[in-house]
Amino acid sequence: MSNLSTELQALTLQLTILPEQINKIADKFRQTMLDGLAGKDSPLKMLPSYLSKPSRNETGTFLALDFGGTNVRVLLTELLGQGIFNVEARIASRLKDADGHYNYISDQSTADQLFDFIAMQIATIVKPDANYPLGHTFSFPIHQTGLNTGTLIHWTKEIETTGMDGNDITEMLIAALARQKLTNVLPQAIINDTVGALLTAAYIDQSTTIGSICGTGHNTAYIEPLSPLTKAPMIINLESGNFDQLPFTNYDSQLDANSERPGAQPLEKMVSGHYIGEIVRIIACNLFDASLLSTSPGRNILTTPYLLNGAHLSLLQEDDTEELVLISNWLEGSLHITNSSIEDRKALKTIAALICARSARLVAATYLGIIKHIDPNLEHSHNIAIDGSLYEKMPGYAQDIQITLDQALDGTAAMATTTLTKDGSGIGAAIATAIAINMKS
Ligand code: GLC
Repeated sequence: MSNLSTELQALTLQLTILPEQINKIADKFRQTMLDGLAGKDSPLKMLPSYLSKPSRNETGTFLALDFGGTNVRVLLTELLGQGIFNVEARIASRLKDADGHYNYISDQSTADQLFDFIAMQIATIVKPDANYPLGHTFSFPIHQTGLNTGTLIHWTKEIETTGMDGNDITEMLIAALARQKLTNVLPQAIINDTVGALLTAAYIDQSTTIGSICGTGHNTAYIEPLSPLTKAPMIINLESGNFDQLPFTNYDSQLDANSERPGAQPLEKMVSGHYIGEIVRIIACNLFDASLLSTSPGRNILTTPYLLNGAHLSLLQEDDTEELVLISNWLEGSLHITNSSIEDRKALKTIAALICARSARLVAATYLGIIKHIDPNLEHSHNIAIDGSLYEKMPGYAQDIQITLDQALDGTAAMATTTLTKDGSGIGAAIATAIAINMKS
C-alpha cells in the first residue's frame, strides 16, 4: 500500500464520527444546555428571544432585514396566515465588494458605516408615502432584554467591524435610517437567523421545535418548554457554534490558532461553510509537506488561507468521472495547479467527503442532544427546520444528518425529520414583527 493510502486510512479513522460517539456527544450537549439554562458556566449561551411559537394567524405586510455577515437582504413580505406568505420584493447586496471597492465587515469599517450601507439598501425598496414595520434578523450572538433591543456580545464568522461595543443594535439602525430620511421604517423586533428559521417553519407546520442554520455559520435554536425567565415556552438561541466537547484533530487546532478569535466557536469551526474548505486546505498542505501528494506546478497557491470554500467541496464531491476530470479542470483553470495526478485528485475528493460527513454527523449529534432535552422519554416526532447552503446544496449532507438521526433514534418511539426552510431567516423577521405588533395591541 502506498504511503498516501496509509495516510488516507489514518485520516479516515481520525475524522469519522462513529455511531457510539454520536450519543456521547449528544449527552454532553444536553448537559451543557442544562448548565446554560441554570446560569452555570457553559459554552452554550442559551440566549432568550422573547418569542415563542407563532399562532399561524399572523398577517400583514412587513419589511424584513436579514443581516448574516456575507450579504444583507431586504424582503418586503406579505403574511397571509396559516403558513402562507408572499415575498413582494427582495434585494440582496454583498457586504464586501469582490473588486475591493468597499468592505463593511473588516476592521477598517465602523458600525455607523455598516448601518448606513444597510439603510441605503432598505431605501431602494421603500416608498415615501407608507409606513413599514421592520423585523431585523441579526445573525450573531446578542444580549437581549426585550424583543426589540439587543447588544452584540461579540462577532463571529470572522467579522471585524468596529464600534458595536455596548451599543443597542436597534438604536443604531434607527439612527442610520434617520440619516437616510427613512423615518417611515419602524423597527419592531430583532431576532437570530436560527429563530427566524424556526418561526417560519412553525408558521407552516406546528410540529417544528428546532430551527438551525447550516451555511457560512452554524447555530441552532429550539423551543424551551420552560424558559428560566418566564417559566413559559420560549425560543432559545443556543449559539451552538461555541460547543466545545468535541473530537478535535491537529488540523482543527491549526485552523483555530490562525483564526480571528482562537478558542471561540469550536463546533462552528469544525462544521460550517466558512471553515470546512479551510480544513481541507490545511490537510492537503500537510500531505504536500510530507511529499505524499505529487509536486504539481503551481501547488504553492494551496498555502493561501481560506482559498477553498464550501462550493469547492461540493465540486470535489460531485465529480463522478473516472479520471476526475472536473476536479482536474478546476485545479488547472481556477487554481493554476497543472499536471495533478489522479491519486492527488482522489485524495482531495476523499478528504472533502470525510470533512463534510464529519460536519453533518456532529450537527446531527447536537440535534439529538436537544431532542433528548425536550423529549427525555424519546416518544415524540420532531421536525427540524434547516436553512443554509451546506444543507441545501452540499452533496449527501442532508442525507447524512437524517441517517445519523435515524440510527441514533432506532429502537425508540421518537422520530426526527429535517426540512429545508429556504429564506427562513428573512421570513421569520416578518413573522416576529407581526407578533411584536400583536403584543402591543
Ligand atoms: C454564527 C452566529 C450565530 C448565527 C450563525 C448562523 O454562529 O454566531 O448567531 O446564527 O452564525 O448564521
